[in-house]
Amino acid sequence: MLNEKHKPVLVNEVLQYLDIQPGKTYLDVTFGSGGHTRAILDKEPTCNVIAMDWDEITLERFGQELLPLYGDRLKFIWGNFALLYRVLKREGIQKVDGILADFGTSQIQISERPGLSLFKDAGLDMRMSPPHQQETAEDVINQVSEKTLADIFFTFGEERHSRRVARAIVEQRAKKKIKTTTDLVAIIDAVVPTTQHNIHKATRIFQALRIYVNRELHNIRAFLPAALRALNPDGRIVCISFHSLEDRIVKHYFKEQHDLGVLEVLTPKVVRPTLEEIAENPSSRSSRLRAARLI
Ligand SMILES: C[S@@+](CC[C@H](N)C(=O)[O-])C[C@H]1O[C@@H](n2cnc3c(N)ncnc32)[C@H](O)[C@@H]1O
Repeated sequence: MLNEKHKPVLVNEVLQYLDIQPGKTYLDVTFGSGGHTRAILDKEPTCNVIAMDWDEITLERFGQELLPLYGDRLKFIWGNFALLYRVLKREGIQKVDGILADFGTSQIQISERPGLSLFKDAGLDMRMSPPHQQETAEDVINQVSEKTLADIFFTFGEERHSRRVARAIVEQRAKKKIKTTTDLVAIIDAVVPTTQHNIHKATRIFQALRIYVNRELHNIRAFLPAALRALNPDGRIVCISFHSLEDRIVKHYFKEQHDLGVLEVLTPKVVRPTLEEIAENPSSRSSRLRAARLI
C-alpha cells in the first residue's frame, strides 16, 4: 500500500488549461500523491510548482520522493486551501501564474484514514487533517440532533432515506454509543431497502459524513476568492470536482466573476474524462473540470 499512488485524473486537460509556460510558477493546492504536480514540472523544464496539501502524512510520504527529482523547482506547503490567503502570506508568496485544485479525497486516504472506508472496521474519525479539525464523525453521529443528521445525509449524500437512517441512529445511540464503521454500517443496512443500484447501501451516508466532517464545501467557497487574489493577470485557475455539489460552487463562482468582468471562463461546458480514461481509470468517471483566466 505504501507505494501505491492516487491516479491523477484529466492530466492532459489540466496541462492544457493551465497553459504551462517557461519560468512561470504554478500552485497545486491539492498535492495528494503528486500526479498533477509531476505532470506540470515535466511539461516545462523551467517552470516551478508550489505544492500544498492539508494532509501532512500524504505530503511527507509523496513529497520526499519528488525533491531529488526537481530540486528547488518544487516547494511544499502544509495547509488548508480554505486559508490560502493567510498561508501564502505566511510563506511570503505574492502571486502565481496558475492554480490547480483537485477537490476531495485520494484513493489512498479513503483506504487508510480511519473511518473513511465503509468496508474497513475502524473508529468513526473521518478527519483528513486532524490538526486542522476537532470534530470527528463519531462526535457528529452521537451528538447532533436527529434533524441535523437527516439534513446532512440528504444535502451532502442525496440519500433518499435520510430521515429513516437519522431516526435509527438516534434510537441506537440512546442504548449505546456508536463508535465504529461496522456499527454504523449495520444500522444503515437494517433500515435502507436494497435497491438495484450497484453501490453499497451505506455509501451515500459515508460520503455525506465525510463532506460534513471535513467542511469540504465550505473550504471550496473560501478557497475560490483567495485563489483569484493570488493570481497574476492572465493567470489560470483550474478546478476538478467529483461531486455535483462541488462543481456547482465552482460553476456559479466563475459565472459571477465573469459577469463582474474579473474572469474569462475557458470551459463554457464542463470538461469530463474521455471514455479511454474512464476505461483505464474507472474512478475518474465522475470527475469534472472547469477553468478560467484572470482578465
Ligand atoms: C483528489 S486528491 C488530489 C490528488 C492529486 N491531484 C494527485 O495527482 O495525486 C485531493 C487532495 O486534496 C487534499 N485536500 C482536501 N481538502 C483540502 C484542503 N481543504 N486543503 C488542502 N488540501 C486538501 C487531500 O488531502 C488530498 O490529498
